Amino acid sequence: MKNTVSTLLRQKQSGDKITMLTAYDYTTAKIIDECGVNAILIGDSLGMVMLGYENTLPVTMEDMIHHTKAVSRGAENAFVVADMPFMSYQVSVEEAVINAGRLIKEGGANAVKLEGGAEVCEQIRAIVNASIPVVAHLGLTPQSVNVFGGFKVQGKSIDNARKLVEDAVRIQEAGACAVVLEGIPAKLADIITKKLFIPTIGIGAGSGCDGQVLVYQDMLGLTTGHTPKFVKRFAEVGDLMRKGISDYISETKEGTFPAEEHTYAVDEEVIAELSKEC
Ligand code: KIV
Repeated sequence: MKNTVSTLLRQKQSGDKITMLTAYDYTTAKIIDECGVNAILIGDSLGMVMLGYENTLPVTMEDMIHHTKAVSRGAENAFVVADMPFMSYQVSVEEAVINAGRLIKEGGANAVKLEGGAEVCEQIRAIVNASIPVVAHLGLTPQSVNVFGGFKVQGKSIDNARKLVEDAVRIQEAGACAVVLEGIPAKLADIITKKLFIPTIGIGAGSGCDGQVLVYQDMLGLTTGHTPKFVKRFAEVGDLMRKGISDYISETKEGTFPAEEHTYAVDEEVIAELSKEC
């Protein structure tokens, strides 16, 4: 059964935790979908994990549409959410609606996600009025990395925490169907989750949220270097890949790959005949 906005809302009401993972390509989306995850996010984190940028800022609409198309083809049941990249919705409400429309029409997404609170409510309202569900994103919003001065936990001071609660209420009033809460204290996320009727989906925001989202490369152990505190590595797929690739190199060099079972047979007469000619 296809997950929809209503599925996520019902899950909040019944206390059934929402699961969301990122995906950026067809094969991964298909595996994640088959496992029964509720929602797949084509995050602009693809800038880092797929394209090798330092942050999400260089990601373009074309990058997002390209990856969203691939994921949509692999996601049969999951609710597909595509990120609106930096500068695709901040300049004007009109541009925001046009770009959100492209992610649905060309990319095949079911909803779009954008970062910010009160300052993007006009955009949220207009996109929702165009019949496109919007997932909001508050807290450590990576597109504001230059304003924050790095990837820093938000909502630790009373003013900042109060502003996040107010923003959460504002985006809900503007028509957002869910909100991602990233990099905020768990107790603040609990307060926001209880205050809203729309589901909260946390990443680095504790277990009190209505659901969780992770970048799949992080949770499957594909990323190297610093692992953020909120990431649990559920598997070490990177190590499995390294072993498989090293074995391929060794066996190819030794000549043990390909073995008999990996080759195609031909009638001996054909080879005998050919040998006379060569
Ligand atoms: O871009 C992304 O992957 C995200 C998640 C971290 C929520 O926005």
